[in-house]
Amino acid sequence: MDDLGSFPEIRMRRLRQSEAIRSLTAETRLSADQFVMPYFVREGRGVREAIDAMPGQFRFSPDTLLGELEELIRAGIKAVLLFGVSGKKDARASMAAAEQGLIQKAVREIKKRFPELLVITDVCLCAYTDHGHCGVLTDSGSVDNDASLEILARSALSHAEAGADIVAPSDMMDGRVKAIRAMLDQSGFEHLPIMSYAAKYASAFYGPFRDAAKSAPGFGDRKSYQMNPANASEAVREAALDIREGADMVMVKPALAYLDVIRAVASAFPAVPVAAYAVSGEYAMIEAAAQKGWADRQAAVMETMTAMARAGARILITYHARQIAGWLQA
Ligand code: PBG
Repeated sequence: MDDLGSFPEIRMRRLRQSEAIRSLTAETRLSADQFVMPYFVREGRGVREAIDAMPGQFRFSPDTLLGELEELIRAGIKAVLLFGVSGKKDARASMAAAEQGLIQKAVREIKKRFPELLVITDVCLCAYTDHGHCGVLTDSGSVDNDASLEILARSALSHAEAGADIVAPSDMMDGRVKAIRAMLDQSGFEHLPIMSYAAKYASAFYGPFRDAAKSAPGFGDRKSYQMNPANASEAVREAALDIREGADMVMVKPALAYLDVIRAVASAFPAVPVAAYAVSGEYAMIEAAAQKGWADRQAAVMETMTAMARAGARILITYHARQIAGWLQA
């Protein structure tokens, strides 16, 4: 760096004098194109139910979601990630792959009305199992990896048949990307991309989501399948395995406490799009501080999103996406 000169010839503050010069020289820029807005879909008609732990977020029945999506699209967001909040649960997660299931019906309605909207579906069993784990259980009550793969793959296929544009497995079973890719390819969906939750950590920041999705585990925790927050190199290995199994995009989740992991994965696989998921607890923290007047909502959201993009995330999944699109237009 020596040949770049030094003070007093060099003054770093020259490029910080005005908003115009700061934005002209910015290394990282955000665009509405890179955002994905997550939604919780529940059964029923005419429902728009507030989620206590996520002020400003709602559980929608498919019909009310259509109205919401119209506004989202008008704001400039082009992609959504859908979660089913199903009241129909059993030990084998039967509704996860049902043709007339909640998500399957919602996707069909959404794609009919908004064919251009990119619909990504979360593929997991936790919203459909009565015990709330992300896979089915063995007789002794542990999560049965290999028995879950077939159900996950059938669930992904049912989403594809309903019209989903991308499937996003979030269960963290070993081998699920391979099982899903094989099932999709056998069934004529060889063009359907997989966005894998490659590095998903066992995180305290999912608390509000489990309340929103009514998917908290009935016993124990998810530490036997989700990653240990202490590990970063392991995330690169997880991403490598998923890419080899057929993942087209890989996700790091949560985002804000894992910027080093986003950077590590993005640097290890520069040709693979990396998504960062700013999860429910990250949303709730900013909302709580903003409501108390302890943080400027817009500034805090834009700073954290810029940090995730700077760390190497090309795709940003956030419950603030709709608001961000409005701010980017202003
Ligand atoms: C389902 C799933 C979870 C999230 C996304 N998919 C919850 C979990 O693993 O417990 C969390 C998303 C969020 O907190 O915003 N397995």
